Amino acid sequence: MKAFRIHVHEAHPVTENVAMPQPGLGEVLVRVAAASLNPLDVKLQRGNMQSFFPLTFPYTLGTDLSGTVEVLGGQVTDWSIGDRIVARTAPTSGGALAEFALVPADQLVRLPEAITLDQAAGIPTAAGTAWQALFEVAHLRQGQTVLIHAGAGGVGSFAIQFARQAGACVIATASGRGIAIAERLGADIVIDYRNEDFVSRVRDVDVVLDTVGGETQARSYEVLRAGGFLASTVAPPDEALAKARGVGAAFVFHSSNAARLATVVEKVAGGVEVLTDRLLPVGDALQAFEHQSTGRARGKIILKSAS
Ligand SMILES: NC(=O)c1ccc[n+]([C@@H]2O[C@H](COP(=O)([O-])OP(=O)(O)OC[C@H]3O[C@@H](n4cnc5c(N)ncnc54)[C@H](OP(=O)(O)O)[C@@H]3O)[C@@H](O)[C@H]2O)c1
Repeated sequence: MKAFRIHVHEAHPVTENVAMPQPGLGEVLVRVAAASLNPLDVKLQRGNMQSFFPLTFPYTLGTDLSGTVEVLGGQVTDWSIGDRIVARTAPTSGGALAEFALVPADQLVRLPEAITLDQAAGIPTAAGTAWQALFEVAHLRQGQTVLIHAGAGGVGSFAIQFARQAGACVIATASGRGIAIAERLGADIVIDYRNEDFVSRVRDVDVVLDTVGGETQARSYEVLRAGGFLASTVAPPDEALAKARGVGAAFVFHSSNAARLATVVEKVAGGVEVLTDRLLPVGDALQAFEHQSTGRARGKIILKSAS
């Protein structure tokens, strides 16, 4: 089968012929229909995540995939050949950008008919992180106001929709074409961050979702109310600064979790949009990877299998 792999950090990923993986106990072999990229794949390729996710080479890129069950490993009883699924593999395992991928059976989520396999591939990491950050880390509630940075990004585009559905008032940052996108997804106010300083437009918000880091994170403390909360997916917030300002702050470390994935899959089946920057054939994986590396994607970059 074909797989999109790296042999060392920072090397250009290449598509190679490799042996078919065999499912072990508790594993399922999935025929991959589509896979999506995340900034994590770029960070893993660059070697920036070694302390969290040490890789063994060769490493097949990609954690987010959809497809059908092809072969059941030992002791797998809840699944049948041909079942439509969506899943996220562990970052250390990767493997989504291949014709077939091994997934632990307990990480599979059944795909409702209302969701296409292409859409499904865009869900796991971005939607799961948005959900975890807003509701499990920041405990966003109905009636609160949330500032979502990078509202047209993978995480931000899901976060806008989840927050709106939860009854929050949503302020988002975006630029260019992303402004109209963030408005369409349900943001009440969109700030063009390239032309306006968000700190001058926003005050007393309950929650900030930081998906940008750096200056954006540091300045976000200024817009929180006392007792507010900053959740960052990019870098651990400065705890001393948070304390000095009388707010809470935490890093969101997204963990694969089939129950959470099932929750966000239900949301998509109910109408939440999988904002798609581009849908490409898997043969264009290198081009897709390079686009992901720019940090300018507006939504998910999804690669569709040839078979
Ligand atoms: N900790 C975790 O477990 C976890 C999980 C998921 C993601 N993450 C991290 O979270 C970050 C976001 O992930 P993602 O998937 O949403 O990324 P993404 O889809 O690549 O985000 C791209 C978007 O960011 C916007 N953007 C860039 N700089 C901005 C700024 N200064 N202000 C506002 N928007 C800006 C871009 O809009 P413009 O082109 O208009 O600038 C673009 O639409 C990444 O660093 C990722 O690694 C961490």
